[in-house]
Amino acid sequence: MENAIALKRAEIEAAGIELTDLTDTNPTRHNLLDPAVLEIIAEHLPGASRYEPHPRGPWPARAALAERYGGDPEDYWLCASTSEAYGWLFSLLAGAGKAVAVPSPGYPLIEPLAQYRGVSTRDYRSFYAHPSGWELDRTSLEQTLAEPDVRAVVAIHPNNPTGAYQDPIIAQLAHKQGLPLIADEVFFPYQFEDPLSTDIKR
Ligand SMILES: Cc1ncc(COP(=O)(O)O)c(C=O)c1O
Repeated sequence: MENAIALKRAEIEAAGIELTDLTDTNPTRHNLLDPAVLEIIAEHLPGASRYEPHPRGPWPARAALAERYGGDPEDYWLCASTSEAYGWLFSLLAGAGKAVAVPSPGYPLIEPLAQYRGVSTRDYRSFYAHPSGWELDRTSLEQTLAEPDVRAVVAIHPNNPTGAYQDPIIAQLAHKQGLPLIADEVFFPYQFEDPLSTDIKR
């Protein structure tokens, strides 16, 4: 509901009186940005040259993502970092006292990020089989997903520290168990190029 100040403002504007809002500190509305910077932004992403903060992230950026990766801009939520996204998702999908399934070996920061939200982690394993590379221990994954307090599954694609792209069975087993999948694909474009082989396993 609009407060008394907002109502007064609407009344003044409706009367055609020009209003100077001294509480508005948006630099893009008061020519406080270097015009050269604004020009570059306007050239590449016209909608972003005026700063319009939104809790889900700027609309032009979400529209650009939807255009590149598909879906609807409304489906996208932007955040400051992967760590922040992990925090949001752990609270949303698990919550304090619950757990999430995480890869082992895996990204070591996940455990403290989960703990910070009161969520614990349960490992599912992969092992190194020479020469084919890292393989998922399917039994270990099935056992972990069946634990009653597990509320979501994290898959890092490709994984840190192994560099291995993940087996799609992780998504299938999560779906079968009715668990949401948290896919961390920060390293997806950086596939390992073995100078001795053209056979890149993805
Ligand atoms: C698997 C994985 N996800 C995400 C990140 C980056 O996290 P953030 O965006 O919070 O810096 C890293 C950085 O090393 C990582 O290894």
